[in-house]
Amino acid sequence: MSYAAVLLAAGLGTRMRSRVPKVLHPLLGRPLLRYGVEAALASGADPVIVVGGAALPQLQSALSDLPLVWAQQAEPLGTAHALMQVRPFLEGFRGTILVLPGDAPLLRPETLRQLAQARVGAGMALLSMELPDPRGYGRILRDDRGEVLGSVEEKDATPEQKALNEVNSGVYAFDEHVWRLLEEIDNANAAGEYYLPDLIAKYRQIGARIVALRGDPEELQGANSRDQLARLEAILLSRLRQQWMEWGVRMILPETIYLEPGVELASDVLLWPGVILRGTTRVEEGAEIGAYSILTDTRVGAGVRIQAHVVAEGAVLEAGSDAGPFAHLRPGAHLEEAAHVGNFVEVKNARLGRGAKAGHLAYLGDAEVGEESNIGAGVVTANYDGQRKHRTVIGPRAFIGSNSLLIAPLQIGQEAFIAGGSVIHQDVPEEALAIARERQRTIEGYRRRKRGTSKPQGSA
Ligand code: UD1
Ligand code: MG
Repeated sequence: MSYAAVLLAAGLGTRMRSRVPKVLHPLLGRPLLRYGVEAALASGADPVIVVGGAALPQLQSALSDLPLVWAQQAEPLGTAHALMQVRPFLEGFRGTILVLPGDAPLLRPETLRQLAQARVGAGMALLSMELPDPRGYGRILRDDRGEVLGSVEEKDATPEQKALNEVNSGVYAFDEHVWRLLEEIDNANAAGEYYLPDLIAKYRQIGARIVALRGDPEELQGANSRDQLARLEAILLSRLRQQWMEWGVRMILPETIYLEPGVELASDVLLWPGVILRGTTRVEEGAEIGAYSILTDTRVGAGVRIQAHVVAEGAVLEAGSDAGPFAHLRPGAHLEEAAHVGNFVEVKNARLGRGAKAGHLAYLGDAEVGEESNIGAGVVTANYDGQRKHRTVIGPRAFIGSNSLLIAPLQIGQEAFIAGGSVIHQDVPEEALAIARERQRTIEGYRRRKRGTSKPQGSA
């Protein structure tokens, strides 16, 4: 059975009250539209056509990695008008034409296949659902024998029709008569739009059989408002958490933990409350992520310990290293085995060798720190001269005293010793001591002498 799929994504999405086109609103970090499109592709539909509106270029760039055909609806005149824009692409197509809204992200490929199958031998098939609260959806009208007569939009419905609980999901499968019947649809309704659900009545008029499958309301729900979007996200999230917990991940207060579909976890990973894992973050066996830490596209090795409030992006923490609390690991931060980064340390495009330590209050940018080296509190690599970035390379087992300023480009040899408070701008050879600060002057008896010349104590 071959079928095409058309996703309608040219609507304005006014109920979102946003400048961002509705179908590009992120759901677990990926645009809403991507979910339905991927379901259609996975179901085996070919071609998969997306109808975009004014935002078409944005849609195309958001989904540029997928094999899609793009159509444009210049003006959002309604869902039937949107489908009409696809006619030139499917005119000679003989199979079933599946149509789905761009805002139904939980649709499963299996459901799409079932609907396409149900269409065979009928003019059209559609998915309906029973909702305790049907507000906002089109209501399905049936006759006494249960035959589907049509679907009426809420705006056009009588009070009796509004009381119906069976609603239109907006997912349909049509035969090749669809193009001719679309031409007959008008916009004489409350919204002044060309309604796709009006096709149901048109198919009845030509005596075609109409199949209505009752679908799962959770799967078919749309995202028309921020509130619905949040509910969909909650469902996707709880599925993801469930899946990882079955895999052996321990989550404390799981409902506070946010993770995206591209994240990979391993068994005995421990996630404390409020953890946020984004993008392609990968956490290996037995690692622990402290409360309120945010990791994006970060690789966390086995047994790594990340304490509370660590923010990491594009970082690598090898097995047995540790970070935090309050560490900032920016793109290119790389902690080798057993390296340690403590509180208020920022690392960017810098590698800390095996067992190297930067325990407190430091900035390491565009740097290499040799194994077992120690970076004292307040050490700063001055990597930027106002125009270009420069590197600081520190050899193994070096000691960089607290509050030293390392002005790059700079090489510090292995086992070199930088005295605290130094401003270092010349290379330091291995095993040398470098001290670059004002020599301390101590004046004996200073306070005593001062007292002798000033007013006696206690006088005003
Ligand atoms: C639509 C159905 C309604 C159904 C509901 C299910 C119509 C008239 N109503 O209502 O019966 O219960 O879906 O979720 O079809 N779109 C376009 N061009 C347009 C208008 C819309 O491409 O001119 C796209 C939107 O981007 C969206 C989809 O079509 O992805 C559905 O539009 P939406 O405005 O969400 O329709 P609903 O009011 O939800
Ligand atoms: Mg909708």
